[in-house]
Amino acid sequence: MHAALAGLPLGAVHVFMQIGSTNDEAARLAEAGAPDLTLVTADEQTAGRGRAGRRWFTPPGSALAVSLVLRPSRPVPLGHYAALGALAVCRALGAFPRVEARIKWPNDVLLHQVKVAGVLPEAHWEGDTLRAVVLGIGVNVTPKAVPPPEVLDFPATCVAQAVGRAVSRLALLREIVEGLLYWRARLGTADFLRAWEDRLAYRGAEVWVTPVDGAPWRGVLLGLDAEGRLRVRDERGRVRALHQVAHLRPVAVTE
Ligand code: BTN
Repeated sequence: MHAALAGLPLGAVHVFMQIGSTNDEAARLAEAGAPDLTLVTADEQTAGRGRAGRRWFTPPGSALAVSLVLRPSRPVPLGHYAALGALAVCRALGAFPRVEARIKWPNDVLLHQVKVAGVLPEAHWEGDTLRAVVLGIGVNVTPKAVPPPEVLDFPATCVAQAVGRAVSRLALLREIVEGLLYWRARLGTADFLRAWEDRLAYRGAEVWVTPVDGAPWRGVLLGLDAEGRLRVRDERGRVRALHQVAHLRPVAVTE
C-alpha cells in the first residue's frame, strides 16, 4: 500500500486491515492534529457509513475505502468536497477505455447509469472555525463489494464488471489520490465547476427530485449554479437551485 502511494505529497498514510469506518478514524486523527492530506484506508469496514445515515458495505478484498483529512485554507461549500471526491474517481475511471463515469449529484459516481462509488464529506468545526473536512470515498471494485439489491436505494455495480476485466485496487487508489490532489488545487475555480458540470449525470434529461422534506417533483436537470447547487426546471417552468435532495432519479434511463 505504501509503495502504491510512494512519491505523493500526503501528510501521513494509515492503513488498516479492518476498521469500523475510515471516516471515523480520519476524524479522530484530525481531532488529534493530523496534518493536511492525511490518508486513512482499510481493506474492510465493519461500520462504513453512507449519506443520510445509510450503511456502506466494504467486505474484505473487494473495494476501496479511503478517507482524507483536508485542512481548508479558505471556506468552500461542503458540496464542493463531494464533487472533489467524485471528480477524482471519474478521472481515475477515465483511464479505462470506453468508460464514461458520471456524477449523480451530489455524491454518487455512476458507470453506465449504475452506481460504482459514493463520496461522504464531513465537516469538523470548532465554534465558527472549520478545522477539517474528512472526505470519504468508497468504490466497489469487485462483485463482492456490491450489496444485494434489497438493501440498495439505487442500482449498484463494481468497476471490474463495468470495465469487463480485473482491476488493481492499488493502482486505482493511486489514480484516485492523484485526482484528489489535482482537483483539490483547483477547488472553487471556474475549471473545477466546469468539469463538475460536464460530468453531471442526466444533464438535459427529465428527473424525479425527492426533497428531504417533501413530495417528489419532476423537472429537467439544467446544470449547476456558481455555488454548485443543482439547477432543475420544474414543470411550471421555474428554475430551482437545490442545495440538497433526498433522491435524484432519471424519469427514463437512456444509455
Ligand atoms: C454514499 O454513497 O452514501 C457515500 C458512501 C461513502 C462511503 C465511504 S467508504 C470510506 C468512508 N468511510 C465511511 O464510513 N464512509 C466513507
